[in-house]
Amino acid sequence: MSAIHRIIIDCDPGHDDMAAILLAAFHPSIEIEAITAVCGNAPLVHTADNALRIVDAFGLDVPVYAGAEAPLLHRYAFPAEFHGPSGLDSAGQGLPPARSQLQTQHAVDAIIERVEAAPGEITLVVIGPMTNIALALALRPSLAQKIKQVVFMGGSATEGNVTPAAEFNIWADAEAARMVFRSGVKLVMFGLNATHQTLMRREDVARIRQAHKGSNPVADIMDFYCGTYYRFAGADKPGAPVHDPCAIAWLIDPTIFDLVERPAEVLVGADGGYGQTLIDMRPQDPSHDARIRNVAVAIKADPNRFADLVTQALVWAAGRISANS
Ligand code: RIB
Ligand code: CA
Repeated sequence: MSAIHRIIIDCDPGHDDMAAILLAAFHPSIEIEAITAVCGNAPLVHTADNALRIVDAFGLDVPVYAGAEAPLLHRYAFPAEFHGPSGLDSAGQGLPPARSQLQTQHAVDAIIERVEAAPGEITLVVIGPMTNIALALALRPSLAQKIKQVVFMGGSATEGNVTPAAEFNIWADAEAARMVFRSGVKLVMFGLNATHQTLMRREDVARIRQAHKGSNPVADIMDFYCGTYYRFAGADKPGAPVHDPCAIAWLIDPTIFDLVERPAEVLVGADGGYGQTLIDMRPQDPSHDARIRNVAVAIKADPNRFADLVTQALVWAAGRISANS
């Protein structure tokens, strides 16, 4: 099967970022043209290094670029309690130190250059704060018409996670997200209302560990991620939401999700609304609706088909890492 989707993954690895990258690398319908790192789950020095570690450990022939060191305006304490101080902590063995180097070009310039070289061809998969994308659109506003689509994990049509109203990726740089939502680029959104349906269950991690006995950094890293979730959400939960791979799973098989097109805005005001994605979910007859429905919002996921796809990819990756170490 030749690749159907040429993608750039803009990310802040990040345990679920790693799962998303591995899912994309695993599936023949996707060609990862570049990975761009952004400040998010951890400082850029760590998210960029983690992206290199992932590429090297799993033998992915993909260039990695470092992007924004800080959000446009917002400053916040990194959520080390979720991903660990490194951004990719493990319950056992972690990924070996990176062997390759970052590209010297800045991620924002790389995004502009690559999109302009292939107008309408490149999908930006954005699974961290939107700082790099906003900067690219600020430098080159016409890019909005040349990017095929932005498929992103962020926001929520219901509850938040970092605040009652806001999800981390949007909250970390709400000004950047507001710019992207207003840019006119085609947006496909996987918010918490959908990603809380897509769990990595205990039996899925057990399947990864079972497939490769002995050292298994993939299982150890996912164990850390799930363990953190259980510590906060309760050990009785059936699994931990893996957010970022939703954006890739949709590209691979759109039927795993149901989406609706709706008007959406990012709030940047003070009080509790900062970083909220305000999705107008009111039923409207499209023939009488003058509003601009700027975002396709995922509202439903098939948890079993999602878990099977991601677990298959992580089993593949667990086998690959031993071959590449
Ligand atoms: O809210 C979930 C998002 O925040 C995911 O992208 C996760 O990696 C963290 O960045
Ligand atoms: Ca992420």
